[in-house]
Order: sequence, then structure tokens, then C-alpha cells
Amino acid sequence: MRRLVAETRLHPAELVLPVFVREGAGAPVPISSMPGVVQHTTETLKGAVADAAAAGIGGIMLFGVPEHKDAEGSGATDPDGILNLATRVAVAEAGDALVVQTDLCLDEFTDHGHCGVLDAAGAVDNDATLARYRDMALAQAEAGSHLLGLSGMMDGQVAAIRDALDTAGRSDVALLAYSGKYASAFYGPFREAVQSSLHGDRRTYQLDAANRREGVREAMLDVAEGADVVMVKPAMSYLDVLADTAAASPVPVWAYQVSGEYAMIEAAAAHGWIDRRRAIEESVLGIRRAGADAVLTYWATELAGWIR
Ligand code: PBG
Repeated sequence: MRRLVAETRLHPAELVLPVFVREGAGAPVPISSMPGVVQHTTETLKGAVADAAAAGIGGIMLFGVPEHKDAEGSGATDPDGILNLATRVAVAEAGDALVVQTDLCLDEFTDHGHCGVLDAAGAVDNDATLARYRDMALAQAEAGSHLLGLSGMMDGQVAAIRDALDTAGRSDVALLAYSGKYASAFYGPFREAVQSSLHGDRRTYQLDAANRREGVREAMLDVAEGADVVMVKPAMSYLDVLADTAAASPVPVWAYQVSGEYAMIEAAAAHGWIDRRRAIEESVLGIRRAGADAVLTYWATELAGWIR
């Protein structure tokens, strides 16, 4: 009876797996604050892509971990930069089975760890960053990315990137806008995962946890600028923003169950304080119930195996 009357169901096709890929050869490097998650090499990435495809999930989101970082984040626009290399490998391995997505942001590539380039005073320069994002989008499209994940929170980034792609004849590449992206403590483990050198925080360009309407407003602006999908992030502490955005949006709305949300459940489960599988299923179901059409989660492949 419960199965028959369930209002929300989980399906593998609605799950997206974030994947970290580092430069260099050798074995995958474990991320201590995210037990079970590793930094892949381009070689071991192939197995993760094959497993994701076999599990029937909807796609993967790639993050690059470069060996060298600089002020401009030049690795992001280098055709042979780690993220672009990893994209080529993933696209070749995935075939038609997965939507291969790429993080479009400079923070993994800058030595100061910010999502954009800095001005003389050390503040993030919004418009100079847009020029870098345009080039980054073209490099990612060239590498074969199907869907660009715009996570940098610069004003006007969706319009700028859409224009760059269309002008280059790449109207086929779609845009996922991290619209309601809040300045959050729950990104903590991610900073270890990409070896971020960030000092301080991102409160001058990410949203304030106090603001509900602002998240919806950002999504509507991104839709007007040409976003194909909008996202709310983190998920669990922002389910109200997610529900509001889902009610207002004419395009699909996704949510990102971020590194800190993953770490909390894994840590509690490791202590035997909660039932790991039930907590994972309940957390993702709650995000779907609140209105997410799809969920980015580090458990995507494993969860798909359970619900298939
Ligand atoms: C920015 C980006 C971040 C995450 C995804 N894209 C970090 C940030 O904005 O500080 C966080 C994801 C997570 O915590 O799982 N490139």
C-alpha cells in the first residue's frame, strides 16, 4: 500500500555523480573528510565512469585538481588542463550513457582559491572574471562537455557564457546555473577534495543563508539569461528555497547535496549513530520531495544500485 500511494520515487536517471580528477598518474587519493570519495586520475576515472553508466545514473559532474595554480587560473582554459583532459576521457568512456558535465569556475585553478580573478585591491573582479569564464566555456565545449556547471556566482555569467558559446557556433552546449548558491560551511570537505588554498570566504559573491527570496530571484535572473537548468545548493539546509524555486521555475530545478552533507551522514553512520542506508535514502528523497528534478550526490552510483 505504501508503495502504491508514494508521492515521490527515486530513480537512477535523476542522480548525478560529482567526480574529482587530479593531475598525474598513480592510485586514486582518498579524501579524508569524505570517506569513500577519492581524487581519481584520468586513468582510474574510466572505471568510475563505467560504474556510473552501468548503474544507470543520469550523468557525472567533473572537477579538476591541477598540480599548479596561478592568479588567473590558467589551467582552466588550457586545452590540456586536467579538467579538459578528464572531460575527453569521460566523454569517450561514457558514450551516450551519461550526460558529462563540467564545473565552470576558477577556484580549483587559482592560487588564491577564489572563484574569479582579483583586482588590485584583492577583491574579486566580476567583469574581468566573465572574460575568463567565456574562454573556459569554449575550452570545455571543445573538450566535449555536454552541460557546463556555472558555479562561480558572478553576476551576468549565464548571459556572458551563452553569448560566447553561441558566437562560436556552440548552441548545442547546455548551461546548468548554480543560481541559489549559498555561502556555506557545508562546502568544507570540498576544499580538501580540490586542495583549495582559499583564505577567508566567498560571502561577497555567494548568497546569505538568511535570504529565501533572493535564491528564487537569482534563479529567475539566470533563466532570463538563458540557463537550461537552475540549481539550489547546498540542499538540506535550503529546502524552502528549493521548493520556492521549483514552484516558480519554467526550467528543471536541481539540487546539490554537498560535501559537508555527505560527510555528516558518513561520520554519524561510522559511529553507529544512524542507519547509513536509510539516512542516505531519506536525505535524497527529502530533496526530491521538496522539488528537485534531479540531485547531485556523492552517493549517486551506490544509491542507484539500491533503488534500481
Ligand atoms: C565551486 C564549487 C564549490 C562546490 C562545487 N563547486 C565550492 C565553493 O563554492 O566553495 C562545493 C561542492 C561541495 O561542497 O560538495 N567550484
